[in-house]
Amino acid sequence: MYAVRFQDLSFTWPNGEALCSGLDMVVQPGEILALVGPSGCGKSTLLRLAAGLLAPSSGSVERPKGEQAFVFQKPTLLPWRTLQENVALPLELVGRSDPAAVIEVLELVGLAEHATKLPVTLSGGMQMRASLARALVTQPELVLLDEAFSALDGLTRRRLHLAFLEIWRAKGFSVLMVTHDLDEALWLADRVVVLEGPPVRLKQVVQVELDRPRAREQLHTPAFGAQLQGLERLL
Ligand SMILES: Nc1ncnc2c1ncn2[C@@H]1O[C@H](COP(=O)(O)OP(=O)(O)OP(=O)(O)O)[C@@H](O)[C@H]1O
Ligand SMILES: [Mg+2]
Repeated sequence: MYAVRFQDLSFTWPNGEALCSGLDMVVQPGEILALVGPSGCGKSTLLRLAAGLLAPSSGSVERPKGEQAFVFQKPTLLPWRTLQENVALPLELVGRSDPAAVIEVLELVGLAEHATKLPVTLSGGMQMRASLARALVTQPELVLLDEAFSALDGLTRRRLHLAFLEIWRAKGFSVLMVTHDLDEALWLADRVVVLEGPPVRLKQVVQVELDRPRAREQLHTPAFGAQLQGLERLL
């Protein structure tokens, strides 16, 4: 069983440059896997391949059929729709209406009381939370995050990390996330894949040795510091 499996994956751009060749990687069901690596090494493209937004040139990308959700760095809310109308959009697109599900995910991200507001009246952190709610409304089995937290200030980011971990624990979906923040990778993930390239290759896979559920205090433990140093040395 796996949530995503890259097998002997090769992808070549139309200009002939290779993004990757012969890449193997698995996201286990229910795990949070973080991809880190230098800018331009191919992280976002791997995410798009995992999502099926790009097709491999050879080899395969397999994922069990099921809902998936993609969250990008910038909140991509429609400005003329209220929060609840934005969050309801993925349901509408498949001809469904489920107001209870919309309110549930807005509650999960702490935005229920703002449901009828327009995005422009909300802070960046709140808009990001709304994007997350919109991603979760279809009950995805796989969530793909491309630097989803990186536009937020430090304090907001920490809060959203904890909220995300709680939702993940409650819902049990699998996560493939890209981040340039090593601290965030360790804090959220079960495993961190350190990439190099282009062409992108797996440099090392690091098992995160931190208990679940994660608690804020762990950030200041020697164990966390040691793992962070280990990752920094790899990059
Ligand atoms: N259409 C294209 N044709 C050729 N090369 C491309 C094309 N689009 C992207 N690339 C190259 O693919 C590589 C991977 O890009 P990608 O956006 O996946 O990197 P990334 O690791 O997400 O970078 P960042 O950390 O800056 O977001 C880059 O070197 C980029 O120049
Ligand atoms: Mg990227």
